[in-house]
Amino acid sequence: MNTYDLKGKVAVVTGAMRGIGKGIALLLARNGARVVVTDIDKASCEQVVKEIEKAGGTGVAFKLDVTNEQEIQDVVKSVHAQFGRIDILVNNAGIFIQEELDGMDAAKIDKELGVNLRGTLLCTKSVLPIMKQQHYGKIVNLASIAGFVGFEVASVYSATKGAIVNLTRELALELGKYGINVNAVAPGVIETPMTDGLLEDKNVAAALLSKIPYGRTGKPEDIANGVGFLVSDDSSYITGHTLVIDGGWLTM
Ligand SMILES: NC(=O)c1ccc[n+]([C@@H]2O[C@H](COP(=O)([O-])OP(=O)(O)OC[C@H]3O[C@@H](n4cnc5c(N)ncnc54)[C@H](O)[C@@H]3O)[C@@H](O)[C@H]2O)c1
Repeated sequence: MNTYDLKGKVAVVTGAMRGIGKGIALLLARNGARVVVTDIDKASCEQVVKEIEKAGGTGVAFKLDVTNEQEIQDVVKSVHAQFGRIDILVNNAGIFIQEELDGMDAAKIDKELGVNLRGTLLCTKSVLPIMKQQHYGKIVNLASIAGFVGFEVASVYSATKGAIVNLTRELALELGKYGINVNAVAPGVIETPMTDGLLEDKNVAAALLSKIPYGRTGKPEDIANGVGFLVSDDSSYITGHTLVIDGGWLTM
């Protein structure tokens, strides 16, 4: 079903070979965008592109590690050369390390900060010259409910997601005059490879479910639907906002 008119738009999605990122890539393509599917494994991105094409959409796959600035710049350059524009960036790539802080060495801390926060900064920075020149751009960052409330034993993750909420507000302020909207979505517990381990444990799953008034965990499509709205022109007067999509977790 086409909900939003994204025809002709070019969208780059990071971390899109699986999980929420894949759900977002499929939804944007279904709504008419030409989708650049990026992640650390190109072959898996190509599989997503195959799904997009099978459904009648247009996609292209690139290997893109969001911690590698040169690779980001090369991908952005190639996409711009191929399509002539970049309208949408979804900063979805992320990692979740559930460990007590005093058990994490500096390298592990740097890794999580590097993907979740530095990666978002670098990817955003790399598309700005193009979006400014177009005087048009839609950026959506993946935050988390962990950016608003504590999530057990995930201090670095929570710190990065809180930072994403604030970065989203700051960039909205900085980029509004260039016609660029910057928003975020904050998922609750969504069924993806990131949460597989948690949800496999029946006790943990029951404890998580008890915090969700809606009575179920989320699907990647639940998040993709929010992103679809935020990157469409239906949201053109919304910027700096974080849309919480959590089945009600934060209401408790
Ligand atoms: N699943 C949830 O419950 C949940 C909740 C809140 C927020 N989120 C956020 O949603 C986003 C997507 O999470 P998901 O649940 O789909 O997780 P996932 O682990 O299934 O997918 C994350 C993707 O990011 C990619 N990635 C990791 N490091 C990367 C790097 N250096 N460069 C490029 N890509 C990289 C992975 O390869 C993977 O495809 C993340 O930012 C995550 O923090 C997820």
